Amino acid sequence: MRPVHVGICGLGTVGSGTVNLLQRNSALISSRANCDITITQIGARRDNPNCDTAGLPVVADIFAVAKNPEIDIVVELIGGTTVARDLVMTALEHGKHVVTANKALIAEHGMEIFAYAESRNLIVAFEAAVAGGIPIIKGLREGLSGNRINWLAGIINGTTNFILSEMAGKGREFSDVLKEAQAKGYAEADPTFDVEGIDAAHKLVILASLAFAIPLDTINIFTDGITKLQPQDVSYASELGYAVKHLGIARQTAEGVEVRVHPTLVPKSCLIADVDGVLNAVMISADAVGKTMFYGPGAGSAPTASSVVADIVDVARTMNNAPESWVPALGVNVNNLKKLPVLDIQDIETSFYMRFSALDKPGVLSSITKIMADASISIEAIIQREQPATEEYVNVIILTSVTRESALDEAVARIEALATVRDSVNFIRVEHLD
Ligand SMILES: NC(=O)c1ccc[n+]([C@@H]2O[C@H](COP(=O)([O-])OP(=O)(O)OC[C@H]3O[C@@H](n4cnc5c(N)ncnc54)[C@H](OP(=O)(O)O)[C@@H]3O)[C@@H](O)[C@H]2O)c1
Repeated sequence: MRPVHVGICGLGTVGSGTVNLLQRNSALISSRANCDITITQIGARRDNPNCDTAGLPVVADIFAVAKNPEIDIVVELIGGTTVARDLVMTALEHGKHVVTANKALIAEHGMEIFAYAESRNLIVAFEAAVAGGIPIIKGLREGLSGNRINWLAGIINGTTNFILSEMAGKGREFSDVLKEAQAKGYAEADPTFDVEGIDAAHKLVILASLAFAIPLDTINIFTDGITKLQPQDVSYASELGYAVKHLGIARQTAEGVEVRVHPTLVPKSCLIADVDGVLNAVMISADAVGKTMFYGPGAGSAPTASSVVADIVDVARTMNNAPESWVPALGVNVNNLKKLPVLDIQDIETSFYMRFSALDKPGVLSSITKIMADASISIEAIIQREQPATEEYVNVIILTSVTRESALDEAVARIEALATVRDSVNFIRVEHLD
């Protein structure tokens, strides 16, 4: 068999890890691919001290790699959605298969990229785009291909999980832990993508598309980050037997699909509640297999390279087979994806944790329970936490039964309007994942 020629664009965290892994496990990887895999060219503007490129041809122009007639597979590891999109489209125009770790690119331009790749009989693989080293794309798309997926829920951003774990374990403030995460290199200098949930949203769009065979560009996602979370909510949740996790949730219901990213209370008895630090996990509930959980490192140079190299092996092994035998990028061919209604967050049904500050005097709690009853919301638990003696307000914490979010919003507005309630009502969605 002739060797398969790989061109790697971008020599940052993932690019350097990929070069290192391809070199370190070269014989093993080639035997698994059933052909020699050679790094034919690297596109990088500078050296990376974490990786030895001696003897490898490095060019500054990544587009030269995308157009290099010798190359079979172009590996896009530059990140972003503008140059990366042009690079991938250029590689496809030049007849190359593509491997990418870029979730933003797939979430935002995946339909265009997959449609073009399918029309040209080329493969685009993206295992590393979701949950880094965890083989969740293949797990979901191929391992569970016989199942109807009911729901999936994932910790798919290590930075937010690290911050929440520290807030829960040590009672620390969000901003304080964020500074440590930045110092440790878990969070970017501009952490917006992570802490506002945008990175998780990109990954969830990909998972939801795979789970329900819906087009990526029709998924309207509700996204809420962790910046407003208070240590006291994490601590009250813990007293009530829950952990607070930043989850991406996708669920198929009779009305359509829910696709949402937000802080969530999950029972401590649930496996995903124990996933701490920078680790990732995705739970999937499916009709035949029941519940499964995929767990492991969601980022980092070597773990992400593990997924990139797995894709290179896959492409190298299958690219000479008939295209009809290839696994389509999103599990079914692009033309067979079907749009489903994506529910507005107001229409989702879940339980809620609520916290607010109310005057500590008779009759206040009964006015609140009346508002909840008027909105047909059952209360599962209500607790009142005394403040210091000088404080005339107490913290009231309520756990509701499953209710429609629009009903909860109505009740929240009425509670906030009470003269006996100070400031706003904080609420967090609760999922039992059973
Ligand atoms: N890091 C992770 O753990 C991880 C995990 C999963 C997925 N990913 C995804 O993997 C991709 C790469 O991430 P990363 O962490 O490796 O990023 P990174 O460390 O910032 O590396 C990106 C590299 O691409 C280079 N680059 C960007 N534009 C270029 C251009 N026009 N020409 C030549 N080189 C260019 C940059 O070079 P300069 O230094 O010269 O700018 C940099 O070396 C992203 O899509 C990311 O979302 C990362």
